[in-house]
Amino acid sequence: MESELALLVPLYWAASASFCAMDFRRITNLPPYVFTIINGLKVEARRAGADVIDLGFGNPDLPSPDIAVEKLAEAAHNSKNHRYSVSRGLPKLREAIADLYKRNWNVDLDVETEITNTIGSKEGFSHLMWVLLDRGDAAIVPSPSYPIHIFGPLFAGADLRQVPMRSLADPAAREDFTGDFFRNLETAWNAGWPKPRVLVISFPHNPTGATVDLDFMQRVVDFCRERDMIVVNDFAYADMGFDGYKPPSILQAKGAKECAVELYSMTKGFSMAGWRVAFLVGNSAVVQALVKLKSYLDYGTFQPIQIAATVTMNEAADYPKEICSIYESRRDVLIDGLSRIGWDIPKPKGSMFVWAQIPEPYAEMESVEFCSHLVRECDVALSPGVGFGPGGEGFVRFALIENEQRIRQGLHNLKRGLPKLG
Ligand SMILES: Cc1ncc(COP(=O)(O)O)c(C=O)c1O
Repeated sequence: MESELALLVPLYWAASASFCAMDFRRITNLPPYVFTIINGLKVEARRAGADVIDLGFGNPDLPSPDIAVEKLAEAAHNSKNHRYSVSRGLPKLREAIADLYKRNWNVDLDVETEITNTIGSKEGFSHLMWVLLDRGDAAIVPSPSYPIHIFGPLFAGADLRQVPMRSLADPAAREDFTGDFFRNLETAWNAGWPKPRVLVISFPHNPTGATVDLDFMQRVVDFCRERDMIVVNDFAYADMGFDGYKPPSILQAKGAKECAVELYSMTKGFSMAGWRVAFLVGNSAVVQALVKLKSYLDYGTFQPIQIAATVTMNEAADYPKEICSIYESRRDVLIDGLSRIGWDIPKPKGSMFVWAQIPEPYAEMESVEFCSHLVRECDVALSPGVGFGPGGEGFVRFALIENEQRIRQGLHNLKRGLPKLG
């Protein structure tokens, strides 16, 4: 099987061009979400009584801060908060995120023009693509990528220029990750017409765990300013830096506000996945364009959630550090354990994932087949790399969403089910 996504993405728009009454153009031709294949096997195995260690879906298992839950309950009891709220976020919520950016990255944000609340960064990103792109436009997106980075531009009608992002698991790429990335970016820019209007990046990176420094962000900003492009940095793992590494905000780069916007989410750092609280910040024209679109589409996040999120950012500002150190220890348990069973993987300095090349004795298997084997033989669920685009084939992703004891159990199972290792 060639990479499913590689084949299906180009087919998606070609097939959407023919339209009949019960054909839902944007939906009918969507490829099956590759992850559902593994998820289906996991559910089946659990029904049959297996204790599957689930390191597949990046759904945080750690609780949200107590103060968030308390404030939500308190605010929900006040009927004034039951009405429609403000789509771009209450002023105090926007002040809280501005303070967080000042504290964490020394970035100043104008509360009126440079911030909007979004209903999670996935929603924010998807609608932002509607704002920035139209049929016939082009966007540059790395491969592999978080799936909505690929499908968001496609839903908006744009063409995709995928930039291969060599994995950290590749020793050559580790040596010159930045050089390699910018050479590929240049190639994508030079190839074809129309010239891309948008560049999508996301560091620390899901799925590869790749991390970058501020010089890298400065080069991205310079690249986009010179070419009149908008760069969108999905900063979902803003709080997830390990071994003393602190992920930079693109807005720290000089001139960033001329061309850059960034999505910050409370999902990972504050472990508030289900609450759906994120923000688009940066270039005011882009932020205001999204505000306008969203004013047509939604009435904002439930007000008690906005109130709880405000108090949480202000009063539980250190919670992301606690969460981050838990993921860091899990990373160590997993990677050290994998190394002991003969599967060597470099340690990522950020994100909540471990990206691993399929080990040599099993390299003839593609990622979906390898992950299916792991569910059946090891009771371990991982994400197949191809789910993140053609550049992900040959790899699997571990999400660090089980506790250390369960990760150790998973390692024991892997040793049993992968006898050719070591
Ligand atoms: C890169 C990236 N962006 C966005 C999201 C979704 O974040 P949110 O919960 O804010 O929509 C994820 C979740 O896994 C992610 O990995």
